[in-house]
Amino acid sequence: MQDLDKLWKIFKDKFTDTGLTKGAFSAPGRVNLIGEHTDYNEGFVLPIAIGKKIIMLGQLRNDRRVRVFDFGYNTEIGFSLDKLIPLHKNTWANYLMGVVDEIQKAGYILQGANLIFRSNVPRKAGLSSSAALEVVTALAMTELNSLKIEPVKMARLCQQAENNFVGVACGIMDQYISCLGQKNHALFIDCRSNNYEPIPFKGHNYQIVICNSKIQRSLVNSEYNKRREECRIAVEFFKHKLNREIRALRDITIDEYKKYQRQLPETIARRARHVISENYRVQAGVQALREENFSAFGKLMVESHRSLKNDYEVSCAELDLLVDLALKQEGVLGARMTGAGFGGCTVNLLKRDYIDVFKKNIKNEYKKITGINPDIYVTLPAEGAKVYGK
Ligand code: GLA
Repeated sequence: MQDLDKLWKIFKDKFTDTGLTKGAFSAPGRVNLIGEHTDYNEGFVLPIAIGKKIIMLGQLRNDRRVRVFDFGYNTEIGFSLDKLIPLHKNTWANYLMGVVDEIQKAGYILQGANLIFRSNVPRKAGLSSSAALEVVTALAMTELNSLKIEPVKMARLCQQAENNFVGVACGIMDQYISCLGQKNHALFIDCRSNNYEPIPFKGHNYQIVICNSKIQRSLVNSEYNKRREECRIAVEFFKHKLNREIRALRDITIDEYKKYQRQLPETIARRARHVISENYRVQAGVQALREENFSAFGKLMVESHRSLKNDYEVSCAELDLLVDLALKQEGVLGARMTGAGFGGCTVNLLKRDYIDVFKKNIKNEYKKITGINPDIYVTLPAEGAKVYGK
């Protein structure tokens, strides 16, 4: 709350009071426990919202302008609701503009606003700081304008903003969990029906630990789009082979895959194997969590990493190193890369008592080999986007 008061003070220094509706909002980053590169294949994912978030304050204006101040980077941009064109500088603003554009395209009428935000979600670390910015903007703009958009629809609008305005062909997972995350629960999301089930993860004895490799590679988007295309080719192949409706890799069983794998080009076969097997791992993982069988869950995480590394080829040397180092530590049940890959973070499942030793050892050993100081965050599943009381 203290944070909010401080931010309101800055808001008041920055903008003249318009006398119109005001509000405070937040949206978190995320980490995915299992189910990687399955969302855009209409499959299953199991992410949690993390305890790092973006807080945004806003007040309506009497005109159609939006002014936004990014507190962390001390930059301000302005735009008109009637002229939304992607920027080449201050590209963070495209997430906001994209969201506003999608809300308007969906037929809602918006009024301008003054906005200020502050983030503690690490940027470009694969923890979805961009999804958090989209979601907090969508929440702020709709609430200030007294519009009600239900959370799944809001997640979809934010995903479309990223697809259409920012130009990244992402799936729905990041925006979905940022909107709908629940404290002490992972969300088992079916990315075909867009339904979800909260799966308890209270972490009395176990904790989620995130290791940031600090590696950022610019090829993420091009490789991401390439993987989507390879999956599409696999779907086309199975459509011709199987005598039933096939819409996505979600529709292929392991046995069908095995029967036809040799007829597929080798790379496409490996991509398909990752997605098909990962969908099974998510479902097995959900079952393991329901039974509080954390060691089974940990094993699935390790298998997931292997599949992402060897079959989907979206890992990198530093992520593999973090996973290998983690698996040598006492009290570690599982470790894997998380998010799109090619850098960013790993997610680890640990016995609570071993966290301090784990942190110390990973920091030392990763630094020794790479020269990089990794960041390590301990988190439990946190709540999703929210409106603060006035
Ligand atoms: C990124 C995308 C998500 C998802 C993951 C990989 O985070 O934004 O939609 O595809 O990569 O699982």
